[in-house]
Amino acid sequence: MVAEEVKIVDLKPLPCPDMRVLDRQKFDLIISVRAIEVPAKKCTEIMQLLHKGNSQFSQLQHKPRLVQPCDDDSSQKLILIDKNQSLPIAGHDYICERTLDIKLTYRNWSASQIIRAILPPSIDDTEVVSGFEIVGHIAHLNLKECHAPYKFLIGQVILDKNPSIKTVVNKLNTIHAEYRYFDMELLAGEENFITTAIEHKLKFNMDFSKLYWNSRLGTEHKRVSDLIPTGSTVLDMFCGIGPFALPLARKRCHVHANDLNPESYKYLLENVKINKISSEFITCYNQDGRELIENFAGPIDYVLMNLPASAYEFVDVFIGLFSRDTEKRKPPVVFCYHFADIEAPVENSITAISEKLGCSISPDEVHLVRKTAPKTWMTCVKFTVPESVLYAESQSKKIKLS
Ligand SMILES: C[S@@+](CC[C@H](N)C(=O)[O-])C[C@H]1O[C@@H](n2cnc3c(N)ncnc32)[C@H](O)[C@@H]1O
Repeated sequence: MVAEEVKIVDLKPLPCPDMRVLDRQKFDLIISVRAIEVPAKKCTEIMQLLHKGNSQFSQLQHKPRLVQPCDDDSSQKLILIDKNQSLPIAGHDYICERTLDIKLTYRNWSASQIIRAILPPSIDDTEVVSGFEIVGHIAHLNLKECHAPYKFLIGQVILDKNPSIKTVVNKLNTIHAEYRYFDMELLAGEENFITTAIEHKLKFNMDFSKLYWNSRLGTEHKRVSDLIPTGSTVLDMFCGIGPFALPLARKRCHVHANDLNPESYKYLLENVKINKISSEFITCYNQDGRELIENFAGPIDYVLMNLPASAYEFVDVFIGLFSRDTEKRKPPVVFCYHFADIEAPVENSITAISEKLGCSISPDEVHLVRKTAPKTWMTCVKFTVPESVLYAESQSKKIKLS
């Protein structure tokens, strides 16, 4: 193979837009680099005098060895030097500069460099798949239409380049409306969706193909569980496999954790067990969130409603909730998630909840959690349910619902 005329600043594999089956050897590339020939015994000393790091290889996943053998002469070594390295080196005037051909292979390139080479030039650099989400041993991608002919190649490259990943899937556009998990297709690796995620030192076992889990919500789970004081009674209406419920129970809140999806419930029970959470602090339910609230007799300090697509439709459960109580109960504080219009996320979230409650709420906070689509913010509205709502006549609830 002849050394390609590759400008080091532009170091990348040659384009292979016709590749449909991964041929790793097609990414071999011989390049000419600057090197200096030095006595083997002075090698360490001279290395220390050179510019730190070798920026020409910074984009590579595996950098070539900077010290190379010198032809057949074991008394000499070649050191690869940066294009900006000034010569001679003080005190070592005898050192001469050479060029050296070195071979870069599939192993050297990063996943995004390989994927860029595979995709046709018509696909813009901004559309090159460089990021993906990881859940346990599973990488999941959100590929676009333009990637479709290359999807299995992309999957294989991601599998090859990330030793901890054993399964690569592509998220399909269909999402289970109620249980909120998405359909997926296997791109590379094992067809095994049973995995374990770690969040804030808790283990979450799950079957990722049958229930909802989002690793991007880790910060939000922590934010909310830090806000709720130890000893509080918390109803987690849509708890999934427990990413709010478990940290809260760990800090000795009394948590009532509920999810309608039987698979989420199964793993919730398992996660309580594997994390050694005492049953004194957590009770698990597999029912409609509305039933959990309606049948709950004791004090409720906090209600978590993380079902952003439709949580606001459940807030009418608070209308008249305490109206049959003989003793007065403290109004609960609600964390209600919402998918809001990007133009006015705060107003949009408050209006959706207020309309359903039949009463204008004044939230303590409307937190912008994350942008989930080009026009959507996921918000978290923290508000205290007004007493006028909680003690409204049950009759008025029926009228509102009809
Ligand atoms: C967006 S996920 C949130 C899960 C969890 N709180 C988290 O942060 O990962 C919403 C959950 O609500 C559950 N769900 C949907 N409708 C429900 C209902 N009517 N009652 C109870 N759970 C429901 C789904 O199965 C899903 O696990």
